[in-house]
Amino acid sequence: MPVTIVLGGQWGDEGKGKITDALAASADLVVRPNGSTNAGHTVVTDDGVFKLHVIPSGILYPHCTCVIGAGVAVSPPDLLREIATLRERHPRLGQLYLSDRAHVIMPYHPLLDLYEEQRRGAAGIGTTLRGNGPAFTDKVARRGIRIADLLPGAEPLLRRKLEILLPEKNVLFVHLYRQQPVDLEAILEEAGRWGEQLLPYVIQAEVFVQDAIAAGKHVIVEAAQGTMLDLDYGTYPYVTSSPPTAAGACQGAGIAPTQVDRVIGVFKAYTTRVGAGPFPTELHDEVGQLLRERGREYGTTTGRPRRVGWFDAVAARYTVRLNGMTEAALTKLDMLDPLPEIRICTGYRLGAEVLTAPPARIDQYEAVEPIYEVLPGWRTDTSRATSFADFPPEARRYVERIEELIGIPITMIGVGPARRQIVWRHAEALA
Ligand code: GDP
Ligand code: IMO
Ligand code: MG
Repeated sequence: MPVTIVLGGQWGDEGKGKITDALAASADLVVRPNGSTNAGHTVVTDDGVFKLHVIPSGILYPHCTCVIGAGVAVSPPDLLREIATLRERHPRLGQLYLSDRAHVIMPYHPLLDLYEEQRRGAAGIGTTLRGNGPAFTDKVARRGIRIADLLPGAEPLLRRKLEILLPEKNVLFVHLYRQQPVDLEAILEEAGRWGEQLLPYVIQAEVFVQDAIAAGKHVIVEAAQGTMLDLDYGTYPYVTSSPPTAAGACQGAGIAPTQVDRVIGVFKAYTTRVGAGPFPTELHDEVGQLLRERGREYGTTTGRPRRVGWFDAVAARYTVRLNGMTEAALTKLDMLDPLPEIRICTGYRLGAEVLTAPPARIDQYEAVEPIYEVLPGWRTDTSRATSFADFPPEARRYVERIEELIGIPITMIGVGPARRQIVWRHAEALA
């Protein structure tokens, strides 16, 4: 069966865009199942660097159809801007469709995101301020606005929904945050314009995707974020608000678990995270600084410096199992080239105990001490490697040790940002 899920195995920014783009060369359909403009997926081609936020990373291939699924929250002005920018820079794009069931990031959502972060102060989550959390909160509270509600003909429905919703929002704006209220008529007018502009893209995405699967098309589901940012299994409350897991990818794309045959977990050869929350292997020394600068570890969406640390095999093994990953892609191995030694976290020490999976209690997660295994570095340029045999023995050993610890094969190894800078390892990865 031809469905492949690509998802993040860490805290996001693992290189999902690059891996999806590489696989999309031979795919018919790429579906985005979750997240919103909070995501930033980078694809580097001969035409330049493309930063995609809600549009799937297959869009740069004219043969590839891209679908924004029901599980995504879409900011219409951001999406329209993303489409316009791409069209300007890359005239040969794939076809783009948008689910009529996707939720809308309304103008009040980014404001609520900002004011709530300000109210939390030092206890802030460090969100991307794109309105993601408030939009998914409204979805779960069953008062969200969906793309279908914006379309021509749906104005009375949208008005009725907003008439109930906005008084509640305005109590928060005026009395809690001490800000201006939002105006119903202004929002209705703006929403009407969005509906007209989005209309050509809107379809019943789950039906379209199911038809494609039935026709034997090769479908990739490109999830956003990473499993350690999942609401249930991540570092709650320092997480995002839609599920970045394989289960979430199925749900958001309208695909059944029984239709999936590959789940590719993308991992960076070290770890990064943006925003607040536990990060046991975080480096505050010159190695961290070197990786941040060398790896250009600054957020694709917000430009914030990413926190940097060693590979965390405890978290990785946990996400491998939760997602039923069949294989892994290890990106940015080249970033480790200059290091004399490299560490892998193989356990968390908590008092007298050694944990082999992340604890639920956030104060405990913040208190764990990483147990490290130290491997020799290779101090050789790997960026031109084209096969596993090209790597120095120490680099091969590092990759193989991670495979042993996480329990699945690493079938792709990233050695640079460009499309061709992937070392493919097992024959099945080329299929
Ligand atoms: P995503 O959100 O998972 O798609 O990842 P991002 O695009 O936010 O961040 C990954 C960054 O690493 C991007 O700047 C990529 O161009 C870059 N990148 C991906 N794979 C590699 C690799 O193997 N080597 C190097 N040097 N850079 C890479
Ligand atoms: P991609 O798809 C890395 C993080 C934010 C913050 C937390 C909650 O590029 O890997 P939100 O705005 O979602 O409410 O923020 O989640 N976060 C990401 N971190 N990569 C992402 O996406 C992220 N999307 C959200 O930094 O800590
Ligand atoms: Mg990213």
